[in-house]
Amino acid sequence: MIAPSILNINNLNLEKDIQTTVNAGINRFHIDIMDGHFVPNLSFGPQLVSDFKKAFPSIEAEIHLMSNNPDDLVPAFTKAGAQIMLLHYEAMTEEKLNYWLDYLNENQVKAGVVLNPDTPVSVLSKFISKIDQILLMTVFPGFGGQKFIPDSVSRIKEASNLVNGKVPIEVDGGINGQTAKKAKDAGAEIFVAGSYLFCQNSVEQQIAELKGILE
Ligand code: DX5
Ligand code: ZN
Repeated sequence: MIAPSILNINNLNLEKDIQTTVNAGINRFHIDIMDGHFVPNLSFGPQLVSDFKKAFPSIEAEIHLMSNNPDDLVPAFTKAGAQIMLLHYEAMTEEKLNYWLDYLNENQVKAGVVLNPDTPVSVLSKFISKIDQILLMTVFPGFGGQKFIPDSVSRIKEASNLVNGKVPIEVDGGINGQTAKKAKDAGAEIFVAGSYLFCQNSVEQQIAELKGILE
């Protein structure tokens, strides 16, 4: 599955470009939430997610929460209509992470844990029973358009052995035709792509190309 990241879309063209992407057969979008603190950049807030759900009710909104403030933002994005929420291991204590994963489970929002490229994959074993997905960062979070970190391939393999098919592994950062293939061969099943889809040829062409490579 391909989950386009809307981070690199010209904000003034969001609806048009999302519609084109939906027409190309996409049914989930990856929405990067950056708080200017956990990562040195700002992006979108809950209003964008509720506007997205009004305009595209049948399309899944996957929230990649890059923030140290889950106490305010997890409820806010749940209320805004998120279907999937991915929380960074590094952004809060394990106790808090457990608390918010339970909250998401109780509120029928799919839950996931995100790991930065330098966080040991082994920490995932503590959360497997309460998550629907894992997100492995293949760049350090904060900006679109970065290069895939080659060490990610062995981390994907390690995570894949650890979860043993119980939950799908998603990858995020520097995904293009080549890196998606490497990630897939290592065990990834969901591919976030931003600049590869929105910063070159037409989005239809880019999606078709990526789908072809991943088949
Ligand atoms: C990075 C974000 C990514 C980013 C992906 O912090 O989490 O989702 O938008 O963009 P590309 O595909 O350009 O690396
Ligand atoms: Zn992301």
